[in-house]
Amino acid sequence: MRELEERIRREGRVLGTDVLKVDNFLNHQVDPKLMVALGHEFAMRFADAGVTKVLTVESSGIAPAVFTALDLDVPMVFARKRKSITLSADNYTADVYSFTKQETNHIIVDKRFIQPKDSVLIIDDFLANGQAAQGMMEIITAAGANLVGAGIVIEKTFQKGRQLLNEANVRVESLARIEDFVNGQVVFANED
Ligand code: G4P
Ligand code: NA
Ligand code: NA
Repeated sequence: MRELEERIRREGRVLGTDVLKVDNFLNHQVDPKLMVALGHEFAMRFADAGVTKVLTVESSGIAPAVFTALDLDVPMVFARKRKSITLSADNYTADVYSFTKQETNHIIVDKRFIQPKDSVLIIDDFLANGQAAQGMMEIITAAGANLVGAGIVIEKTFQKGRQLLNEANVRVESLARIEDFVNGQVVFANED
């Protein structure tokens, strides 16, 4: 998506070898008009998929997810994060290990909000190692719901997440695909 790539080029900052900081429009300060455009793009790409729920993880997935849900006219559900949990029969939970932060979070969704009849679209801000997406997939499976695919704002193709989702036969739509960082500059993957 051209508009997003331009924002990344203009305002993104590369940290170290594998992290892109985009906290002036996505991860801390949020540009609502850009979020509307991202949501519209995801909604168009999954328009015929019969989506009934959009699922993300707090906090940075919420902005793109809510505008996708608005466009699709369905509810948005965000999994909550907890350091530790007391297991409850009323919740679905999954472990999400963060390679970046080297810690495990539990993500939690109330059983009322994902039902067996649902067709769920996952939305997230980044696809890196795919651990957040995998945790959401586990919850969707536990709920007996249908996973229609994953919409990713920024995919880093050099990390393991895409392969993990491909191997699980999940349809992935990424709005920007970064294949490398070279001398602090972003190299986008060729459009397919
Ligand atoms: P994974 O889910 O794909 O396995 O990602 P990983 O564990 O590597 O990342 C942990 C956190 O870092 C996630 O946010 C993820 O969205 C974010 N992240 C991964 N790569 C990048 C990057 O290049 N730039 C930025 N800005 N973030 C990245 P989180 O811990 O869930 O935090 P939140 O911001 O959603 O609250
Ligand atoms: Na995220
Ligand atoms: Na994040």
